[in-house]
Amino acid sequence: MSLALYSLHMAFTVWSYPTRILFGAGSAAESGREAKNFVSRRVLLVTDEGVVRAGLARLVEASLAESGLESRTFAGLSSNPTEAEVEAGAAAYRDAGAEGVIAVGGGAAMDVAKLIVVRSQVDRSFEELDDALGGDRFIPKVLPPVIAIPTTAGTGSEIGRAAVLTVASTGAKTVIFAPSMLPKVAILDPELSLSLPSGPTAATGFDALTHCLEAYLAKGDHPMADGIALMGLELIARDLPRVYGNGRDIEARGGMLKAAMMGAASFQKGLGACHSLSHPLSAELGIHHGLANALCLPAVVDFNEQVVPERVRRAGAIFGADPGAGGCGRALRQLRTKLGMPGGLSAVGVTREHLPRLAALALKDGCHGGNPRPCTERDFLDLYTASL
Ligand SMILES: [Fe+2]
Repeated sequence: MSLALYSLHMAFTVWSYPTRILFGAGSAAESGREAKNFVSRRVLLVTDEGVVRAGLARLVEASLAESGLESRTFAGLSSNPTEAEVEAGAAAYRDAGAEGVIAVGGGAAMDVAKLIVVRSQVDRSFEELDDALGGDRFIPKVLPPVIAIPTTAGTGSEIGRAAVLTVASTGAKTVIFAPSMLPKVAILDPELSLSLPSGPTAATGFDALTHCLEAYLAKGDHPMADGIALMGLELIARDLPRVYGNGRDIEARGGMLKAAMMGAASFQKGLGACHSLSHPLSAELGIHHGLANALCLPAVVDFNEQVVPERVRRAGAIFGADPGAGGCGRALRQLRTKLGMPGGLSAVGVTREHLPRLAALALKDGCHGGNPRPCTERDFLDLYTASL
């Protein structure tokens, strides 16, 4: 069954929040003790070069060693994971004789960690495992453990059951999903995000904002997701401008880590048209996922306001929006400016000539299945145009 169908194939709804989460400054030092609950000897640490340079991988390696665990580190990742990177990580996992994976990094590291444990048990191509094609039926109900330690506050992948990679044969960003891919433990340590520069801080933060807002506006009956999404938006309205202004503000960094995690908790309800617009922008033009969301979200909110005006107003009020029509979209554009982001897609190299192909790809993307207002290819073209 696909991700979208997971809660819809039955006559009743599924609400599921099972992850163990450690939060607090210094909590990364607990990673060894936590890992010891799931593995006895060896783990693979999956991270990226930036995290290694910042000394954050060393912190976790030390904790693992202290708990008597051997670790091998794999840092061959880019910001948009490819199949080749996952296969290299899977080879490192096999060579190390690892029993589980610790991810230290942003969404890419956490997603690759999940895909490595999938690959350790499944021989099929990632194209066959595509969630949109029902690939989850090939993924075992039990996988080796993943422990996720985010260093950015954006994707919330640390409590998510899905991973995204660009599949070589299709060139498309592909979602792989299975409940067994859920990390066993998420460790949210705000000290690990203190050194993230202001640009990525703003972009990843806007991804978290988009998750909360799209989940809140998504169709479906999920009061838990709605409540978590609204609280996530409150944290973001308070703390995203603070961390952008002062990256060393540990309390605000903690708030953003919570909000990012809450965004992912809430989007099990569903996402929306903004993610369908942003996925082709990243896959085709290499635009950062969070930035792509930031550039498309106001137009999507304006588009959805016709069908869910009360929800749009309520979310807008959190960002100080005026209660009139279009207020939420305007407040989001102002926030974007405050965070030093460009005012539209044309500023990042998107032209009118790109739009028909992007719109066709957006229509194929599964995320808009959750959008409260149905989207046609023409709507996607109009939404891109409004976001230029
Ligand atoms: Fe996202």
